[in-house]
Amino acid sequence: MKLIVAEMACLYLLVVGVAFATVGGGDVAIKSKKGEVVFSHDNHVGMGLECTKCHDGLFTTSAQHKKVTMKQMQQGKSCGACHNGKTAFSVKGDCKNCHK
Ligand code: HEC
Ligand code: HEC
Ligand code: HEC
Repeated sequence: MKLIVAEMACLYLLVVGVAFATVGGGDVAIKSKKGEVVFSHDNHVGMGLECTKCHDGLFTTSAQHKKVTMKQMQQGKSCGACHNGKTAFSVKGDCKNCHK
């Protein structure tokens, strides 16, 4: 199952990537009660992160999105796997970096 989703993501990249020059899943908007969070594939892939860092252990697609709380992120889930103050700015602060 995991492999299939990864392959689908690659196929999607090939098809959509060539047609619109979008990196990976493009900009993904995630709604939350604190305001929308836009995740940028351009920025994350552009800084050298490989697809497999996130797919599909951490994330699948926005349709299959599993809601997580900030508390879970602080414990290392979802964005919090990297946004822990070491690999990247922490989910414990800088709310405005993510929430618009
Ligand atoms: C830093 C983490 C990260 C990296 C690296 C990453 N992605 Fe994603 N990707 C995400 C997130 C987050 C989502 C949204 C998932 C969600 O809402 O649960 C997503 C969604 C997607 C989607 C579905 C888009 C949609 O709107 O549903 C595709 C396709 C995708 N990624 C392909 C790729 C490909 C191909 C690469 C490598 C070039 C890549 N991703 C690299 C985090 C990442
Ligand atoms: C690295 C990006 C990031 C940072 C930094 C961040 N958030 Fe979030 N936050 C998200 C994402 C993504 C969601 C949506 C999660 C979901 O729906 O799965 C979310 C969801 C939420 C929610 C709704 C879920 C819940 O836990 O009740 C609240 C409230 C929230 N954030 C508050 C904050 C506050 C306050 C801060 C600053 C201390 C903050 N966030 C910092 C990315 C971030
Ligand atoms: C695999 C590691 C990884 C994951 C997972 C990850 N990020 Fe990041 N992100 C980074 C790194 C590294 C940076 C750049 C370093 C910094 O700014 O501290 C960054 C930078 C950012 C930035 C600033 C640049 C920009 O795109 O505007 C935002 C916003 C951001 N991440 C949001 C998110 C959100 C929202 C999620 C979860 C949906 C997420 N990230 C998941 C590694 C990750």
